[in-house]
Parts: sequence; C-alpha cells; structure tokens
Amino acid sequence: MSSLKQANRTQRGSLQIHEANPANKLHLTVVEDYEQMSQAAGQLVLHQLTQRPDSVLGLATGGTPVGLYRKLREEKADLSQAMTFNLDEYYALPRQHPQSFYQFMKGHVYDPLMPLGYDIPNGESAEVEQECTRYETAIRDAGGIDLQVLGVGRNGHIGFNEPETAFSSRTRLVALKRETLEDNAQFFDHVSEVPKQAITMGIGTILEARTIVLLASGPAKAEALYQLMYGDISPSVPVTALRLHPTVHVIVDKAAAALLK
Ligand code: F6R
Repeated sequence: MSSLKQANRTQRGSLQIHEANPANKLHLTVVEDYEQMSQAAGQLVLHQLTQRPDSVLGLATGGTPVGLYRKLREEKADLSQAMTFNLDEYYALPRQHPQSFYQFMKGHVYDPLMPLGYDIPNGESAEVEQECTRYETAIRDAGGIDLQVLGVGRNGHIGFNEPETAFSSRTRLVALKRETLEDNAQFFDHVSEVPKQAITMGIGTILEARTIVLLASGPAKAEALYQLMYGDISPSVPVTALRLHPTVHVIVDKAAAALLK
C-alpha cells in the first residue's frame, strides 16, 4: 500500500477515500508579490464567472483576499447571478461588530458587488448545532460550491479548522488556537478581545468544492506552504488535506514560496 493510501486509511477514519492528488499535481503559481497574487486570483474568479455566471463561490476573510476583492470591484465583476458562502464567522461576536466577518464581507463584497445571494454562518445563533446544519443544507441546496477561495493560517489551518481537525469534519463550532488568536489580534484593540470560538465549514465541507484556489502571501505562510507541497498528508497540518482534492490552484508570492524548491 502506498504511504499516501496508508495515511488516508489511518487518518480519515471511515470517510470515503478520495484518490490522492500527488503534491506535484497541485497547480502551483508563484508570483512576485501580493499585488500579482491578487491579480492572478482575480482572473481565476472572473473566468469562473464568465464560464458560469450563476456560480456558487466560497469566500474567505482576512488579509489575504482583500486584494482579490479589490480586483473584482475594479473589474466590475458581475455577481448578479452568483451566490456566495463564507468559510467562517466568529462565535458570539455581534454581526454589527466592525470586526465580524459579516461586516468584512459587507464592505468588500456584499454592498459593492451585490451577489444574487450570500450566506455566512450566524455567529449569534443560540442554536449552534441547528445553525451548522442549516449552513450545510444551504450549501447543498445551492448545488454545492463551484469555486472555493482559501487563505491559510500560519499553523496550516484552512477555514478555522485548526491542527488535528479530522479531514471528514463538517460545519461546526470550534475553539481557536493561541497562534490564531495572536494573528487576529491585529484587527482588535487587544488579543483578549478576539473571540475564542468560531463557526467554520469543516475540511470535509471544503473538499467538496469543485475547484479550490489557495492564496498565500508573505514569509509567515512559508512553512505552511512547504508542508502543503512536501509534508505528510496529515490532520496536524490541515492544509495538506488539499492534496486529496483533484483541482486545486495554489497562487503564492515569492515570500510565501521561499521554502519551496
Ligand atoms: C478566513 C479564514 C482563515 C484565513 C487565515 C489566513 O475566513 O478562514 O483560514 O484565511 O487565517 O488569514 P490572513 O489572510 O489574515 O493571513
């Protein structure tokens, strides 16, 4: 048995085994800087919308996709027939809070680009399990995600699926790791104000997207990128789950690619 299949068997439990995608089959594009990364990602999303105006897009928040959303606004991307779903939302942070992911999306995408419909986990829900089930059902009812945009955490998280998350995980409430709280503290007055929990799509949910585009910029992401390309496929580095997916575009700048051969 190949080591990849072995890894699948031991780490993915009873989940259906996908045919593994060797690291060298990831579509890797290394560009000069953040600006070029955003440009390349913008072209990919615009192409998707041209091919299928009623696409279902999976979107991320954080510093990484800000340039991509700016490109989409500059190019007047037509989302009038498209639906968007977000990866995650802080738990128990009011939707009106300036740092909620809802507000981020409202400013960068919802208000300026006006997709036909959008959805994001409701972090204020009193019935969290029901909310997670609702979100999974909404994605399925929309026909599934055509193109999922991902950033990656310094510790290799995708969405808020922190290290040791099962690859079969679905949308649920999670606790954020210390390094994630520290990284996100830049958007709050103090690290103690960063919500300690979030609702996130699971890795299993993310892997069901038809196409995935992973973006990374800057030296802080270099180790995660190295693990994605050369590390073991393992829940200890969640981003390595992408090697189990058949169609992943990895667009990174030189700084993030610094450890790649
Ligand atoms: C955001 C998300 C996270 C971020 C990651 C990187 O919706 O799910 O996985 O993509 O934390 O964040 P930035 O882009 O701020 O470095």
